[in-house]
Amino acid sequence: MPKATVLIQGASSGIGLEFVRQLLKRKTPTHVIATSQKLAEDRLADLQKEYLRHSLHRLDVLELDVRHQDQFDTFGEQVEQCLNDLKRERGLDMLINCAHIWHPSNRVETSLQDVLSIDLNDVYQVNVVGPILVTKILLNALKRGRSSFGNPATNAPYSSLVVNISAELASIQNNRVGGWYAYRLSKCALNMATKNLALEFGRQPLDENSICGLKKDEKPLLFVAMSPGVVNTQMMHEYKKLFPKDAHFLTKTQSVERMLASIDKLSLEDNGAFLDFNGKSIPY
Ligand SMILES: NC(=O)c1ccc[n+]([C@@H]2O[C@H](COP(=O)([O-])OP(=O)(O)OC[C@H]3O[C@@H](n4cnc5c(N)ncnc54)[C@H](OP(=O)(O)O)[C@@H]3O)[C@@H](O)[C@H]2O)c1
Repeated sequence: MPKATVLIQGASSGIGLEFVRQLLKRKTPTHVIATSQKLAEDRLADLQKEYLRHSLHRLDVLELDVRHQDQFDTFGEQVEQCLNDLKRERGLDMLINCAHIWHPSNRVETSLQDVLSIDLNDVYQVNVVGPILVTKILLNALKRGRSSFGNPATNAPYSSLVVNISAELASIQNNRVGGWYAYRLSKCALNMATKNLALEFGRQPLDENSICGLKKDEKPLLFVAMSPGVVNTQMMHEYKKLFPKDAHFLTKTQSVERMLASIDKLSLEDNGAFLDFNGKSIPY
């Protein structure tokens, strides 16, 4: 019987799919709900079949294209159904928001002349609106989590953990080369959303005027923005020339192993933080 339940949003390829693989292999039996913008006979379906062959119901795959607002209500109901099927009252212990696009044309902007309104909007829709609306629709399920990830022993307990996969390119302080307009802007906005959520759901109200999304008996939620590093996914081959010659590229396996190890050490003190894959703080 799974001891923890995680939802990976944007898991059909790359880092999201690697999270699914590694979480399924955890020593603590973990149930994974993975989303894909289009259900297909693909690597997620193969993984699901592999577990079912061994009579293990460990992976649910749901369809969600985060650009389509009309899919969100059905998606929320499907997640509740998955949790119900696990025959446990508890909800989600962790949400990882992973889906992204670099740029609709797959060629990031290296000059202001390349910047188009439609591209800025498209990237914002997937990289910012998506994670916020997914968090919103799953909020009740997240409030029912039992802090199976992170390290609740270090301070006050929390219900669940939300990891928004960000990027070092979002750091304003560390931006020394420019470019990547739509992508950088979107990840900056995602970081701000992470901080806002941490403030709204990460603590009991300081006074009667404080913004607080928790009821008196509800535990806080823990939110972080985490950069996976520069990871050798398929798309990255296109962009390698834009990185300094000495840039260190991680494999998907290395990046996800390190992120999960860092996630295991998180506590409420990290709420709203922007961290690298080793759990080290990145300046906003
Ligand atoms: N790779 C790196 O070096 C690097 C560096 C910094 C940050 N990151 C961050 O790490 C995360 C994962 O990146 P990755 O390299 O694994 O990217 P990837 O291989 O391009 O995977 C992106 C995922 O997002 C999904 N997606 C795209 N549009 C979607 C939509 N409208 N609705 C739902 N899902 C959608 C894709 O689905 P399809 O397969 O159906 O297209 C795919 O599963 C991203 O948040 C990215 O910004 C990556």
